[in-house]
Amino acid sequence: MKFTPVALLLVAAAAAGSTDTTSGHAVSQSLGATSGAARGKYLVTVFGCGDCHTPLKMGPQGPSPDLNRALSGHPEQMGALRMPRLEQPYLWAGAATNTAFAGPWGISYAANLTADQNTGLGIWTEEMFVKALRTGKHMATARPILPPMPWQALGQATDDDLNAIYAYLRTVKPITNHVPDAQIPDQD
Ligand code: HEC
Repeated sequence: MKFTPVALLLVAAAAAGSTDTTSGHAVSQSLGATSGAARGKYLVTVFGCGDCHTPLKMGPQGPSPDLNRALSGHPEQMGALRMPRLEQPYLWAGAATNTAFAGPWGISYAANLTADQNTGLGIWTEEMFVKALRTGKHMATARPILPPMPWQALGQATDDDLNAIYAYLRTVKPITNHVPDAQIPDQD
């Protein structure tokens, strides 16, 4: 099997994303925590939420997570994107930031998970957050949550773990970043 250097870079960047969202020190410190924001920080790190919710930016070493925009979702400045033309056997594509994903579901944009009141999880209650991940419904009641958001797996975490993730996200620096609405193809 052959990998292009670009593919390798992206894989490396995705792997780095899982650890760079927080320092290794902080993670090992919070390992013992079973609940609360410290536990949530650990879970957000090991579940790799930042891989999709923190935009990658290009630097001298290749793409790396833009920690000034940690967990703030698809950058507003990039806006809504056009559907790419895909050739077989490719079924889906991701933007360079790894925050926008085009596939049979349309185009999905990673949400702003910071506590910003208007553009992030500011108005979300803990109940909404847990219910959204458990049911796969946008804001717990509306349209289905689209791929590649792995709610099917994350929704199986315990109540304590989901509550801890929510508690941690409330402590993340609020960033005002209005993520575009998902573009869903007409069903006909
Ligand atoms: C593989 C990429 C990926 C990973 C990993 C990921 N997400 Fe997401 N997430 C997305 C995308 C894309 C959306 C937007 C989906 C949509 O618009 O339907 C999203 C949406 C969300 C939403 C909003 C759901 C709604 O009601 O609209 C929440 C909350 C969320 N993610 C939390 C998390 C948390 C917490 C983690 C880690 C435990 C995580 N995500 C990991 C890609 C990801």
